Amino acid sequence: MAAASARDKPAARPAASLEPDAGAGGAAGAADRHGRRVRAIFSEIAGRYDLFNALASFGIYRRWLAAVARACACSPTDRVLDVAGGTGDVAFELCRACPPGSIELTDFTPAMLDVARERQAAGAARGVPVSYATVDAHDLPYEDGAFTLVTCAYGLRNFSRRTRAMAEAHRVLAPGGRYVVLEFATPPNPVWRALYRVYLNVAIPLIGGAVTGDRAGFAYLRDSIKRFPPQERIAQELREAGFAQVTYKNLTGGIVAVYTAVRGA
Ligand SMILES: C[S@@+](CC[C@H](N)C(=O)[O-])C[C@H]1O[C@@H](n2cnc3c(N)ncnc32)[C@H](O)[C@@H]1O
Repeated sequence: MAAASARDKPAARPAASLEPDAGAGGAAGAADRHGRRVRAIFSEIAGRYDLFNALASFGIYRRWLAAVARACACSPTDRVLDVAGGTGDVAFELCRACPPGSIELTDFTPAMLDVARERQAAGAARGVPVSYATVDAHDLPYEDGAFTLVTCAYGLRNFSRRTRAMAEAHRVLAPGGRYVVLEFATPPNPVWRALYRVYLNVAIPLIGGAVTGDRAGFAYLRDSIKRFPPQERIAQELREAGFAQVTYKNLTGGIVAVYTAVRGA
């Protein structure tokens, strides 16, 4: 059930093609292949993604979501775009904790959005108008300045062109709009970091394989976490994308970090 009224819909640009350019070579070809692989993995695991999240994080992901909502601090005047929104965890947490005026919940994997629609049908949106769109984070089909808040949880590390996705988030934000990102991070304490690496190497493919049957997909997810740059580098990329007031907060000893950034006037 998609429940947005026309009044709540942000201005849209013609949608960019979501079809990969199969003939492209070089960097563009590699990006397309990466995108196809990522979409195939999330299509495969969509139905069990939420269960995996709960098990693999021992339920701590709920606290991380609450921290995202605190960083967003939405009000009914906010028009929110959730990029790589998946099954709707961030969107529905905002509906619960600080209801915005509207949410455009987007992802480039339709199967993930299907799960979100089921959750909305079960009441997760609590009356907040939530609309859905299959959208690639690298090419947002919205007018400049269409939103007051853009969120992105566990999306950045899956993007083939992370800085392009940041620039797109910046473009669709109105002046003064906020970009809130949740992503796996690098724990600063070496002992905690080493323990966490062991957990990643062993537990993620094991739990993911057991829950979804797709062990290879979870090996990819584990590797994407291990390859993701440390917090300072991401903060620097956000500044280079044009954002101001870039800050981040480590959670659970830096296993994840919540970044906040503001589009200047
Ligand atoms: C780990 S899930 C996170 C989902 C959700 N944000 C959450 O907090 O649970 C990553 C999501 O990113 C989406 N994704 C990956 N690359 C994307 C892209 N280029 N454009 C849009 N979505 C993308 C995947 O389809 C998947 O749903």
